[in-house]
Amino acid sequence: MSDVCVLGAGAWGLALALELNKNGNNVTVWTKLESEAEMLTNQRENTISLPGIKIPESIEITTDIASAVHDKAIIVLAVASKFIRSTSATIRPYIKDKQIIVNVAKGIEEDTLMTMTDIISDELPTADVCVLSGPTHAEEVSRGLPTLCVVGAKSKTTAELVQNAFMNDTFRIYISPDILGIELGGSIKNVIALAAGMLDGVGFGDNSMAALITRGMAEITRLGVAMGAKIETLNGLSGVGDLIVTCQSQHSRNRRAGKLMGQGLTREEAMAEVKQVVEGVYSAKAAKKLATKYGVNMPIVNEVNAVLFENKSMNEAIASLMGRDRKSEITDAEWR
Ligand SMILES: NC(=O)c1ccc[n+]([C@@H]2O[C@H](COP(=O)([O-])OP(=O)(O)OC[C@H]3O[C@@H](n4cnc5c(N)ncnc54)[C@H](O)[C@@H]3O)[C@@H](O)[C@H]2O)c1
Repeated sequence: MSDVCVLGAGAWGLALALELNKNGNNVTVWTKLESEAEMLTNQRENTISLPGIKIPESIEITTDIASAVHDKAIIVLAVASKFIRSTSATIRPYIKDKQIIVNVAKGIEEDTLMTMTDIISDELPTADVCVLSGPTHAEEVSRGLPTLCVVGAKSKTTAELVQNAFMNDTFRIYISPDILGIELGGSIKNVIALAAGMLDGVGFGDNSMAALITRGMAEITRLGVAMGAKIETLNGLSGVGDLIVTCQSQHSRNRRAGKLMGQGLTREEAMAEVKQVVEGVYSAKAAKKLATKYGVNMPIVNEVNAVLFENKSMNEAIASLMGRDRKSEITDAEWR
């Protein structure tokens, strides 16, 4: 049993707090938002982000970040990706050497092209930063539906410690040293999920969806390999696993936002309607920049950017993708 804290009281922070609590850890959940803390303290439920799931009294809720992170075996960073840098900077004065921090946010910082663990390490250079990711919708994890994910860490010792803290009979955790591969899959899939929603909103069918997921995965793999990620990771839970769930699940906010755009809403209207941060919109620009930086061809990512930021219609974007040069599916094909 360890003292652990979760920073961020949205759907995912709470679902993970429940797993840690179920495993016998002492859990503190911090939120910056007074209204969220009040709701959780009084109703023991986040009726906006995770309705219908009760948070036991044994989980402490606080808005005091200094006491929340004080002397904790593990700190889980579960704020939305755009708040990862500011939250990391806020806890800097309270962090001990080699503090284990588990990032669960998904995204790439647009200006720096850093992953979330890069950002945390940048703000907290002495911390032992790892990542937990996979096909893991909070709505299902919090209901005890069997879910698998992967923890990436620099050392096996840290990976196993985090695995032990989270793993139980419904939440199975693998470990891996490939932090970069885990984070890339989790971030770029949000861009493909926006496209998946758009296809659905426009009224395309299952063939188009399967094609998008497959070719989207090809783009993620090309970029990941160019950046040094392991192909097994990209084919694993945090790569293809997360891509499948995000493109197909009713719980995916990126897919929902894309669908609303496919039905005619503007980007801003769709983001407002979804009411949560639509991280794929930010990751889209970052993914395009990474593709340019690493000389990788990412046509779907380019078309998503054109629809999001250049007023290109979805039908024009589809026509551009369908009208590309004729290709071989594999690159090192040997013909008889
Ligand atoms: N929801 C899921 O099922 C799920 C699963 C895996 C990973 N994730 C990732 O986890 C992260 C959090 O997701 P979520 O669904 O809990 O998001 P959310 O939008 O429900 O919650 C984000 C939380 O961030 C916090 N926050 C808001 N403004 C803040 C600020 N200015 N400073 C600091 N904190 C602030 C709040 O506590 C808020 O509840 C995201 O990066 C997401 O991609 C989510």
